[in-house]
Amino acid sequence: MEIKKKIKQAWNNFTSSNEPIKILVTGGTGYIGSHTVVELQQAGFEVFIVDNLSNSNIEVLNGIEKITGKMPVFENIDCTDYVAMDRFLSKHEGIQAIIHFAASKAVGESVEKPLLYYRNNVVSLINQLELMSTHHIKGIVFSSSCTVYGQPDQLPVTESAPRKTALSPYGNTKQICEDIIMDTIYSNSQLKSIILRYFNPIGAHPSAHIGELPNGVPNNLIPFVTQTAAGIREQLKVFGSDYNTPDGTCIRDYINVVDLAKAHVIAVERMLQEKTKKNVEIFNLGTGRGLSVMEIIKTFEKVNKVAVPHQIVDRREGDIEQVWADPTFANEELGWKAKESVEDTLKSAWKWQKNLMKKAEK
Ligand code: UFG
Repeated sequence: MEIKKKIKQAWNNFTSSNEPIKILVTGGTGYIGSHTVVELQQAGFEVFIVDNLSNSNIEVLNGIEKITGKMPVFENIDCTDYVAMDRFLSKHEGIQAIIHFAASKAVGESVEKPLLYYRNNVVSLINQLELMSTHHIKGIVFSSSCTVYGQPDQLPVTESAPRKTALSPYGNTKQICEDIIMDTIYSNSQLKSIILRYFNPIGAHPSAHIGELPNGVPNNLIPFVTQTAAGIREQLKVFGSDYNTPDGTCIRDYINVVDLAKAHVIAVERMLQEKTKKNVEIFNLGTGRGLSVMEIIKTFEKVNKVAVPHQIVDRREGDIEQVWADPTFANEELGWKAKESVEDTLKSAWKWQKNLMKKAEK
């Protein structure tokens, strides 16, 4: 029998057994991580989370359980702690793939504390890659970012566009991590990786049991919009209106977080089913549509019938003028497409914010 057929048969035997496939999600209580855990559980995977709760709350686990009826295995571990990770993987033998979200992600903070970012983001990836060999883990899905493109020369941006010099230590960690993965996989043909370059994930699970909850004052647009609409923040600052765009404000590709989470399930299945065409594959995850900051504010106000007081201020340092994805490769190769409209996504963000306020009142 041809090798490929053998693998296929082994896979079919494996999946038809009642044993669920075990997946480790690092950073699984975070924003994208928690939505991905839900989708993985709903697809029948057994999920193991490690997270040091540095930018998330243990309460998220209850939200996940409310949606799926299943509490994932969780341990409070910092992924930079090699010994603790090794112990965890020995205790939960049989994990087949890792989805590695655990990382620090605030651009401004990374400029102030570069070493924290290099340690958290780079060391934790190196640990996972080393431990994959020890624990016979086949594949790793890595959270990268469209930040690696900088300001692309051509829009929409495809995966083959050159990576530009990073504008922040955070952005640099994403480039370095992509390189580390490529070098490692090149040296070890047993390992596989899918690198996912996210555009701007927004919104919340439609149940409003999980969503985005940044610690302190939000850096990102949507949590600032929802908190301003809720009266928690007085006014949203729109950073710059003199960009070379139709309304002068920056343009991004805003993608629904549940759509994004679903792509991870497809990526894991693709690696485990040996469907990857190369040992490392890179996909853009975006909608293919760019929207300006003002368009987002106006749409949010319209669909949620709530005002977002805002004021135009100076440009924010380091912002890219405009970027949106060409998601054709992910659409065709993964059979994945962003489905939710921006209107429904902005409704889900507001529903989540209202839910949080209800909880705070109790
Ligand atoms: N913005 C405002 N006011 C705010 C916050 C943001 O006008 O209070 C504007 C920004 O200037 C930008 C747009 O809204 O034009 C989006 O800003 P975000 O901070 O929400 O997102 P970024 O595109 O700057 O960055 C995000 C993630 C990064 C990631 C990057 C690219 O925060 O982690 O996308 O992937 F690297």
